[in-house]
Amino acid sequence: MSFVTVKSLSHYDRTVFCPADKSISVRAVILAAYAQGESVIKNLSLCDDVYSAIDCVRRLGASVETVGSEARIVGARFSGCKLDCGNSATTARLLIGLLSGLNGVYELDGDESLRSRPMRRVIEPLAAMGANIRSDDGRLPVKVVGGALRGCDYTLPVPSAQVKSALLLAGLNASSAVTVGNCGATRNHTENMLAAMGASVRASDNEACVAPSVLHAADLTVPGDASSAAYPICLALALRGRCTVKNVGINETRTAYIALLRSVGADIEYKNVVTGAEPTADICVSGGASRPFVIDENLAPRLIDEIPVLCALACFINGKSVVRGAGELRFKESDRIKATVQALRALGADIAETDDGIVVCGGKKLGFGTVDPHGDHRIAMSAAVAAASGGGARITGSECVSVSYPDFFKTGAVL
Ligand code: S3P
Repeated sequence: MSFVTVKSLSHYDRTVFCPADKSISVRAVILAAYAQGESVIKNLSLCDDVYSAIDCVRRLGASVETVGSEARIVGARFSGCKLDCGNSATTARLLIGLLSGLNGVYELDGDESLRSRPMRRVIEPLAAMGANIRSDDGRLPVKVVGGALRGCDYTLPVPSAQVKSALLLAGLNASSAVTVGNCGATRNHTENMLAAMGASVRASDNEACVAPSVLHAADLTVPGDASSAAYPICLALALRGRCTVKNVGINETRTAYIALLRSVGADIEYKNVVTGAEPTADICVSGGASRPFVIDENLAPRLIDEIPVLCALACFINGKSVVRGAGELRFKESDRIKATVQALRALGADIAETDDGIVVCGGKKLGFGTVDPHGDHRIAMSAAVAAASGGGARITGSECVSVSYPDFFKTGAVL
């Protein structure tokens, strides 16, 4: 296990190139592997989760050739096999949905963290469509015996892009349309990519619908990852410095944290905007955030991945910042409510856990501490932001950042 020492920074004025979007890259690999023809994916993320997706689709029969961050993927008719989804819940859940409606027997597994994460949320609605999915306790390993599926009209009990996407991908091969409701707060990359690949897909404010469709290869360019951009953005705000993060995806379903930061006084500007289904911009930040924030149950699903780093920033904003209605954090790569509180408390933060959230009393001076991120990339990077803005830290198991941001400790984002 490796560790890094994060030094306390006195000022921050940087231009940062964040990695390509992990969510979009995983989708691009899976959908291109299933589509008819050759897709060229530019600026594919080279993070561990995307390698897990590539490994899975190669086992399924697709050809994937990569040169740097460009991938040529030739779609295939999948055949039954064993799949290792590594740490990637997106890979596991999307594949369970897609494979349910195809011929073959597929066994999906993952690492220890992924084996602990709930899969019943996809298994149950897919089973209601006629899918044959076996699992001992609603977790991986899972066996999918592909077969005929019916369409469905399903309302998500908890907003989740992965569950929505699993159902939409199953819908490609169902006998009639699949409609998913209560998904307004979830990222819409699957719908965007399905449309780009010729599927019959319709999305409104709170609903997405796919009719049975054939997918055709497409050339796609992946934008920078808005969730990864949150680390240098929050670091610049905590240190009241400046930064520009280049070429970031600014899809509104991913940038609720920017709206929140603006609402508490942060000066954040988009420059060089490029429009499209997945628009991009350079994100320019200067100065700090002047007021504490409240994230409630309506907002939480829209910025769920950014909550740990927002809590790191909250340590440097005078007053009480509150997160509630974010119980889903307990089912991520780690229990992120517990892990965030432990990590920031190890640095001296005044922070407390609630059943479904976190309360941070900002303004207390942080000191040097040792943080164990429990193998969770977002906890390691959030702790690094707090440490660089405060008194420094030793972060153990720091290699876990490779799940989404392999160069985080190398490219000057924090060190
Ligand atoms: C993701 C969706 C979110 C998010 C995860 C990636 C995706 O999870 O937290 O990091 O790529 O669809 P849920 O679908 O569980 O909300």
